[in-house]
Amino acid sequence: MRLDKYLCDTLNMTRTEAKKAISGGRVAVNEIAAKSGSLQVVEKDLVSLDGSPVSYRRYFYIMLHKPQGYVCANTDRRSRTVFDLLPQEYRKKDLFVCGRLDKDTTGLVLLTNNGTLAHRILAPKKCIFKEYIVTLRDKVSKEDIMKLEEGLKLKSGQTFMPAYFYPDQPNRGLLKISEGKFHQIKRMFASLGNEVVALHRKSIHGLTLDESLAEGECRYLTEAEIVGLEQVI
Ligand code: URA
Repeated sequence: MRLDKYLCDTLNMTRTEAKKAISGGRVAVNEIAAKSGSLQVVEKDLVSLDGSPVSYRRYFYIMLHKPQGYVCANTDRRSRTVFDLLPQEYRKKDLFVCGRLDKDTTGLVLLTNNGTLAHRILAPKKCIFKEYIVTLRDKVSKEDIMKLEEGLKLKSGQTFMPAYFYPDQPNRGLLKISEGKFHQIKRMFASLGNEVVALHRKSIHGLTLDESLAEGECRYLTEAEIVGLEQVI
């Protein structure tokens, strides 16, 4: 791969910044100052910037605080998509949403180019828990909580794995589910005769939405967050 692309992928630099760093003599490959961004490098090459080693990262992970009104799709004819929220330098090839949210749901969206991880996070067998703050029209009874814990079966025959609800108000609480079926939470509560009036995803497998991110903002995951997530693989 080209050296300038290597720097962009690894350090989240723009192509212009990478080229400037190279022409400014700040980048070395195998301890020899690089002269051009078109220089071909492979993973085992020792690349450094300002004397510090730069290790190539094949996968990248972005957390986004999704506002209402955006769909989790690559393109959509009628609605804005979560990709419209990403600053230009975050819009990389092969990036996809790991666990979609409905248009009116807010909260944590994870975007990655690591297809294996995305697949595992969604696989029911892996039992990866996602946490949501659910606000309901009516209060949630103890019986409802027990039914959720037993696993629901809809009239259509569709089943949902056990889910755990921890109320903090009569009609609001934290729900933990390990699946990601279409409109799952709305359909679960509808089957209990209730209605979801607001839904916010707080975490995916221990990865919690950074509270300092305002709606519509995103950031790359930290090394520690990536390690936590990659344990799923
Ligand atoms: N369940 C839903 O009903 N909607 C979401 O956006 C996520 C889970």
